[in-house]
Amino acid sequence: MNEPRNYFVTGGSRGLGEGIVLEAIASGSDVAFAYRSNKSAADDVIRQAQELRPGARCQAYQLDVSDPDQVSEVADRVLEDFEDIGVLVNCAGVNRDNLVISMADDEWAQVIATNLSGPFYVIRAFLSNMLANRFGRIINISSIQHNGGSGQANYAASKAGLHGLTKTVAKEYGRKGITANVVVPGFFDTDMTRETMPQAAKDYWKKHCPMPKGRMGYTSEIAKTVTFLASPGGGFINGDVISVTGGLNWTT
Ligand SMILES: NC(=O)c1ccc[n+]([C@@H]2O[C@H](COP(=O)([O-])OP(=O)(O)OC[C@H]3O[C@@H](n4cnc5c(N)ncnc54)[C@H](OP(=O)(O)O)[C@@H]3O)[C@@H](O)[C@H]2O)c1
Repeated sequence: MNEPRNYFVTGGSRGLGEGIVLEAIASGSDVAFAYRSNKSAADDVIRQAQELRPGARCQAYQLDVSDPDQVSEVADRVLEDFEDIGVLVNCAGVNRDNLVISMADDEWAQVIATNLSGPFYVIRAFLSNMLANRFGRIINISSIQHNGGSGQANYAASKAGLHGLTKTVAKEYGRKGITANVVVPGFFDTDMTRETMPQAAKDYWKKHCPMPKGRMGYTSEIAKTVTFLASPGGGFINGDVISVTGGLNWTT
């Protein structure tokens, strides 16, 4: 059976996605990844990949995942360049917080389009290739806010929807050798949390997370969870939700 382990990672230029790209490179896979606009961050990831494993194939593609035409055009180019994609990681995500009563249409629409419609477009674009190989590992990055979070109706709805999408893909394509799972990160030090997470939420985390000193997660702890799901050892996990939260799953 042909089991290609090439990755395609959205949001691979920064934060958790960057960690996932580099861990996949370190574990011996070739990686195509997408970024929205920050080319210098994407170039830096490629430079790090070359340092980690000289000669490794790591290529960046500019893509707004909320645009279905761009997704299908970039997916075609990725498949031309890499031939097969066996592991698809939907990590790109945004938040634009507001209370429901004040939330503007574009705040709602951008977050749903990026965090939920984006993964749908990307999965749809790569499914034919995975079906042809009768192999695929689809890993969608959610959030502990998928059960609802004050000020995050758009974000919570997008992530809850991602769980439904993932479980459906698992049911539709599991028999064809394609698994789909959700990884739920807790609190990690990335641009997203640095720039937008309220101090009160950070303080709450530090006080209540049942980890030494209430620490945040390390990016590598998400990345290694993803590479495990993509590895042969992860092959019987399908339609599942893997929490990487240090035990503080405050919304469940
Ligand atoms: N950090 C946490 O503690 C945490 C907790 C729970 C869940 N998560 C989830 O984990 C994922 C990664 O979060 P992060 O903290 O690493 O975020 P981040 O540091 O803000 O990075 C976001 C990444 O997504 C890309 N991106 C944003 N909008 C995009 C679009 N429309 N099309 C394509 N790419 C787009 C960005 O590209 P550019 O660099 O070009 O802008 C960047 O690579 C997100 O889905 C987030 O919801 C994070």
